Amino acid sequence: MGRLEGKVAVITGASQGMGEAHARLFVREGAQVVITDINVGLGQSLADELGKNCFFVRQDVSSSSDWAEVVDAARSRFGPVEVLVNNAGTIGPVKSLLDFSEEEFLNVCAVNQLGVFLGMKAVVPGMIAAGRGSIVNISSIAGMLGTKASSNAAYCASKFAVRGMSKLIAAQYGHVGIRVNSVHPGYILTPMMIAATDENGGGAAEAIPLGRLARPEEVSNVVLFLASDEASFVSGAEHVVDGAMIAG
Ligand SMILES: NC(=O)c1ccc[n+]([C@@H]2O[C@H](COP(=O)([O-])OP(=O)(O)OC[C@H]3O[C@@H](n4cnc5c(N)ncnc54)[C@H](O)[C@@H]3O)[C@@H](O)[C@H]2O)c1
Repeated sequence: MGRLEGKVAVITGASQGMGEAHARLFVREGAQVVITDINVGLGQSLADELGKNCFFVRQDVSSSSDWAEVVDAARSRFGPVEVLVNNAGTIGPVKSLLDFSEEEFLNVCAVNQLGVFLGMKAVVPGMIAAGRGSIVNISSIAGMLGTKASSNAAYCASKFAVRGMSKLIAAQYGHVGIRVNSVHPGYILTPMMIAATDENGGGAAEAIPLGRLARPEEVSNVVLFLASDEASFVSGAEHVVDGAMIAG
């Protein structure tokens, strides 16, 4: 029996990168998964490949009406959403504070911060009705520290916000059986990382005690655990997956 058997999950930003890896693992572990993204071509072909337990919905996570459609589509296709992985994210331009415009700041926060807020708002009523649910919010090591890896003020601010909101909602809704955790990846080899640096993470491996960048699947294993009933008493916590990069 799969570790997510009988669960309906929504994973945002799942057309590529870590979201795609989470979707593949969730389906393998028995979940029925709605994947969403603004990239329709890649998302639809992933859903086609994963078969009857995966369904793609085009969604911009910063749109509340898109969220209503995603939750409705999940319910009518598979049933009430029990697991939400707020994974969609954008890094924005890698620029210094003085070069970063107000518009660029708000664009990054709309996806990374507002998107997570709207996602939790959309699924929590159904989770309250069911008396259970697990929300996994993808932050970053940029949500733990302000370092070179934080990229820019908007990315860092939005990822700190994700960590804070996760704790608050975990505290406010624990009594109705909802768990909320944040995951903080370090340098993971995905299209986002390669676009921001290069195939080697811009030489980042030297700063990582484990000596390499991670594969997306190494983050998926942590997300799977948090989504599953194995994590039944794990909530309100941050889970760093960075090969000890920020440990010392
Ligand atoms: N790659 C890393 O090293 C790293 C490190 C720390 C945190 N993260 C975080 O992990 C998550 C996944 O990152 P990734 O590296 O797989 O990125 P990626 O760019 O490879 O994939 C992100 C996906 O999100 C989608 N997306 C972007 N804006 C969207 C929107 N408004 N609505 C819906 N979907 C949207 C993109 O189309 C893309 O498919 C992000 O939240 C990112 O900030 C990544």
